[in-house]
Amino acid sequence: MSEVSTKPGEARSPGLTVQEILAKDSKPVPKYLRTQSYEFLGDEDLSFERYTNKNFHEMEIEKMWGRTWQWACREEHIPETGDYYVYDVGPYSALIVRSSSGEIKAYRNACMHRGTKLKPGSSNGWTEAIRCPYHGWQWNLDGELESFLSEWDFPHVSPEDYGLIPVRAELWGGFIFVNFDIDAISLEEYLDPLPSHISSEVFEVRYVAMHIEKELNCNWKIASEAFLEAYHVPETHPELMQTNGDVNTQYDFYGDHVNRLVNPAGTPSPVLGKSMTEQEILDLFLVGDRDDVDEQLKVEAGGTARATMSQHVRDSVLAAGGPDLSDVCDSEIVDTIAYFVFPNQQFFSGVSFPIVYRFRPLGLDHTRSVFDFVILKTRPSKGEEVQTAQPYPLKADESYTTVPGLDATVGYVFDQDTGNMQAAHEGALASGRTGVTLANYQEIRIRHMHRTLDKYLEE
Ligand code: FES
Ligand SMILES: [Fe+2]
Repeated sequence: MSEVSTKPGEARSPGLTVQEILAKDSKPVPKYLRTQSYEFLGDEDLSFERYTNKNFHEMEIEKMWGRTWQWACREEHIPETGDYYVYDVGPYSALIVRSSSGEIKAYRNACMHRGTKLKPGSSNGWTEAIRCPYHGWQWNLDGELESFLSEWDFPHVSPEDYGLIPVRAELWGGFIFVNFDIDAISLEEYLDPLPSHISSEVFEVRYVAMHIEKELNCNWKIASEAFLEAYHVPETHPELMQTNGDVNTQYDFYGDHVNRLVNPAGTPSPVLGKSMTEQEILDLFLVGDRDDVDEQLKVEAGGTARATMSQHVRDSVLAAGGPDLSDVCDSEIVDTIAYFVFPNQQFFSGVSFPIVYRFRPLGLDHTRSVFDFVILKTRPSKGEEVQTAQPYPLKADESYTTVPGLDATVGYVFDQDTGNMQAAHEGALASGRTGVTLANYQEIRIRHMHRTLDKYLEE
């Protein structure tokens, strides 16, 4: 049991720490997992106004959304010249295209004549040229103005001044990130230290197998924060406790833009206060959707549920023609290792459930949001064609269990998560208090995110 200190932020849950669990890994554990990066950032309440006040939302739009790197789509969404994808956040809209030379380029999705959106919000497809639907001004894929009607009436328009306005677009992990601030720091600098922890290739070899876009009746930060801690697991997902180290999750933050959690699987919640045999744990072990685990697995004498399940995943991935995972440690296979990148996205690097989250305000409304939940799969090694999934829309009152192809258990868990969100927003308005009270350790990622948000808003 870890020692309990009286200094704020130093206390930890009873039960095994993540580092103690990693010490029993059946493979060498890489250094990025063996280190911790936490410090106490204060225990003041966070004002409810940050979620409920329209002026605060407008400040976020003015000072934050247009200056931060956000993943917009995947490289495989625009493989051919002329393919395009639109990413919208608040009033901002980026038109991302594959140019004639095969480069990825992005522009403000607005006409240089009278501002009309060139392609509809959240659309994607193929186009020969970028043509405004209103009066037909037309640009090539490199953003150069090619033609417009009645040139004789615009002697003041010289085509070289009327190219589409560029948006920064850079790649990491097969994701295309955009930044509307042309002077922003590079994506590589922004993501530091994520690329030194997780190789870009880990995500590059995957493709979008499922994308669910759910509307939520809450501020976008309330939605995002529901996935920044595992403190909610015992109350919101009690069925997961037998095989999930919830309150003994490890939390780390780095610089301004990146934080992470390492949530151990195959270990019972310390909140249960009971021990289980390794076989009992293995029988309930949930790796991703558990679709691939139909046989009755057995823990060998002296073995652990974590090692047994990890080996099962290594074997089945290899048998399915996937990569050799012999050197990948148990934690990287079965645990939830989730990297948050400010302001609105999380990347899950684990082998058994490679997913990505993104949260955005819905249009200009600070009381509604969109939650993009993406399930990635490893591309077949023999290069067979794969189908990149289109977003599947879900209204706020629709259940994840109705999504075709989504495992029912996973759908149920996401219904549990999103089921709290409207109540959290409404309670923020109804509360006689002024703000949110946070745990020093388990909710540090939320405080870290707000600290960075303040840095943007104060500039
Ligand atoms: S507004 Fe686009 S061509 Fe007129
Ligand atoms: Fe949850």
